[in-house]
Amino acid sequence: MTALHTHRTARRLRLRGVTEADLDALTLLDREVFPEEPYPYFVLRQLFDVYPDHLLVLDDGIALKGYVLVGTAPDKSRSWILGLGITRDERRRGHGSRLMLEVLKRLRGIGVGEVLLTVSPANTAAIQLYENLDFAAEKGVRKGYFGPEADRLVMRLQL
Ligand SMILES: CC(C)(COP(=O)(O)OP(=O)(O)OC[C@H]1O[C@@H](n2cnc3c(N)ncnc32)[C@H](O)[C@@H]1OP(=O)(O)O)[C@@H](O)C(=O)NCCC(=O)NCCS
Repeated sequence: MTALHTHRTARRLRLRGVTEADLDALTLLDREVFPEEPYPYFVLRQLFDVYPDHLLVLDDGIALKGYVLVGTAPDKSRSWILGLGITRDERRRGHGSRLMLEVLKRLRGIGVGEVLLTVSPANTAAIQLYENLDFAAEKGVRKGYFGPEADRLVMRLQL
């Protein structure tokens, strides 16, 4: 697939900020993307309340097909990517990269210094996507980062 083709396919979905009316659909999307550990509704609701500007969704006109959620420190020294997901039927079409590129552009625009995220060491798809965007793993695998058996890589990008 050429870069142009990927780009054009990715544009089929509308990228926009989330609204309160999206919260049910966002919860369904998050459950589909992270079936083993979805955010409870109340957590998504509160994340929306705290970080409305950096919760972006991809919309096909009927359903939400992807989202990225970012939390930023009040002094803008750093942001954390708190969630990135694309529905199975829409993967490998450039949507995940598109969401990340857009949110990174917005973070740069408000002067954020660095962006961090965690990812399972087994999630080679996500790690590859982040490496393509110049994120680099810090300090190797962090054992038990999210509790027993939940090891994570912490990846960082200087903006
Ligand atoms: C990770 C995820 C968001 C990627 O979304 P996506 O829209 O498929 O990603 P893109 O199409 O933008 O892929 C960008 C690049 O990432 C890498 N990549 C993505 N999926 C991959 C896969 N299954 N295997 C290997 N590399 C992959 C490739 O380098 C790809 O570029 P290419 O298609 O030109 O080779 C998606 O697979 C997903 O939602 N997974 C479940 C949730 C998750 O793991 N989220 C991240 C948690 S940290």
